[in-house]
Amino acid sequence: MKYFCSCYYGFIFLLLFSLATLGCWGYNMEDFVHCIYLHSNNNDSNSTLIHTPSSSSYSYVLNFSIRNLRFSEPETPKPVAIITPSHASQVQAAVICCKSHGFQIRTRSGGHDFEGSSYVANVPFVLIDLINLNSITIDTEDESAWVQSGATVGELYYRIGEKSRTLGFPAGFVPTIGIGGFLSGGGFGMMVRKYGLAADNVVDAYVVDANGSVFDRYSMGEDLFWAIRGGGGGSFGIVLAWKLKLVPVPPTVTSFSLSKTWDQNAADLIHRWQYVAPEVDQDLFISAWVTAFNSSDGSGRIMEASFFSLYLGKATELLSLMEKTFPELGLKKEDCLEMSWVESMAFSASGFVSAKSLELLLNRSPLDNGRQKIKSDYPTEPISETALEGMWERFKNEELEKVQFILIPFGGKMNEISESETPSAHRAGYPIHIGYYVKWQHPDADSRHLEWTRELYNYMTPFVSKSPRAAYANYRDLDIGTNNEDRILTSYEEASVWGHQYFGNNFERLMEVKAKVDQFNFFRHEQSIPPAPPRVRI
Ligand code: FDA
Repeated sequence: MKYFCSCYYGFIFLLLFSLATLGCWGYNMEDFVHCIYLHSNNNDSNSTLIHTPSSSSYSYVLNFSIRNLRFSEPETPKPVAIITPSHASQVQAAVICCKSHGFQIRTRSGGHDFEGSSYVANVPFVLIDLINLNSITIDTEDESAWVQSGATVGELYYRIGEKSRTLGFPAGFVPTIGIGGFLSGGGFGMMVRKYGLAADNVVDAYVVDANGSVFDRYSMGEDLFWAIRGGGGGSFGIVLAWKLKLVPVPPTVTSFSLSKTWDQNAADLIHRWQYVAPEVDQDLFISAWVTAFNSSDGSGRIMEASFFSLYLGKATELLSLMEKTFPELGLKKEDCLEMSWVESMAFSASGFVSAKSLELLLNRSPLDNGRQKIKSDYPTEPISETALEGMWERFKNEELEKVQFILIPFGGKMNEISESETPSAHRAGYPIHIGYYVKWQHPDADSRHLEWTRELYNYMTPFVSKSPRAAYANYRDLDIGTNNEDRILTSYEEASVWGHQYFGNNFERLMEVKAKVDQFNFFRHEQSIPPAPPRVRI
């Protein structure tokens, strides 16, 4: 099947370009603000809902949820206004008024987008920051929760823990991640092997579409409901809230965090991990993280492997399982911490240091901020020791502040869910998820960290999935391709490069859904799903 539609593109482009520029020429902020209040049923005072560059709150609100300081420079393009809705009608008003005034929209929930796509654009844009849409309602009888997009995964864990010791939800490691972006891209965490991705456990949602109308699962239809559960944020509308199926967890779980230096056989353990972690009992999750950084006392490069684990059961069972499957790790009774599930999430939130402070889950400020870059891969078979050796050599580079090789085991439940069940296609056949993560502080170190990451990614090419090389939508990486910024509609050929990497064979269906719900591509950004053009058989 081939997409061919240059006439269609030309016509739509001219039409939308004229509308957009008319709006930009004519805009004044007073008019825009008036429009927002006119269309909102539930009005807060001016200062809490709309923040313009002249408001004293503007910079604070903008910066509060920026998680990648690479996109917080004076020259970074800033929104013409920030809207912080606390009611659905204010989101609807924002969509209607941005459209009529020719502004693009960036939607932000937690602000963790690795490329800043939720708060940066190179065209006049309005930031809709959902930070005040953060309510969470837990229903222990129904074993479900309604969670607004602006809540964080940490807040969700905390609220579940308040109500039950035997319910949980399979979301991510870091508590400050926003529910909106996390579920939009799939979302994995320490129960991925038992319960799949977070988006696999969504049973309903409310979405505002490009016309400013609100739909639930029934009224939006199964195609759109399918697309929003993993098809990437910022493409189909603004998801206001999600209904989640909570999952059973035992009253006592066991966590451990074990670190090994290179002298303690860390390299062998990482190699061996690949054979064990995706295959063991699905109650057991062991992630492996190799971190390299310069020691603070100037004594050189430190490189260590850490194994962070959650076992859905007691320590004695875990010890016997580890003895059978991964004795090389040398796990001892004193390494195992028994706790409730919510405490295990607090343990993760603390960087696997302490499970004591559940309040840490409610803190929206990260433990540390910085400049970051991430790339992802899915090897389809274990990476050889020799190939890994080449990576470790690169990690020794003392010019890099902090680099991490993050290995997440899939398998288990992920093998039971078909690749087309949600847009996240990488399941059976993709036993391991890899993240190459680099973090640094100073702008003058940007290019060397970015170039190093790209070189490492090139180096890894022979050892990971191919045709296409799979990537994770939630680890956004603009290096793998972007929509053409100068045109409202991107061609299939351009978008399919990164689209197939993120979504495999689901990419075409995502484009079809987009064409159905947002044919003029109102919700768009560098890697938003473009609408499928009408098909012409040739
Ligand atoms: P943000 O608000 O930046 O949104 C991300 C994207 O979704 C943007 O395109 C945005 O426009 C869109 N979006 C946001 N809210 C929306 C809404 N309500 N409706 C429609 N579109 C919306 N991932 C993972 O799977 N497991 C993990 O453990 C981690 N850990 C992790 C740690 C750290 C420190 C970072 C920076 C990132 C991760 N991630 C992760 C990746 C994370 O899941 C990914 O960046 C999410 O998109 C973040 O969601 P936020 O809402 O925080 O981002």
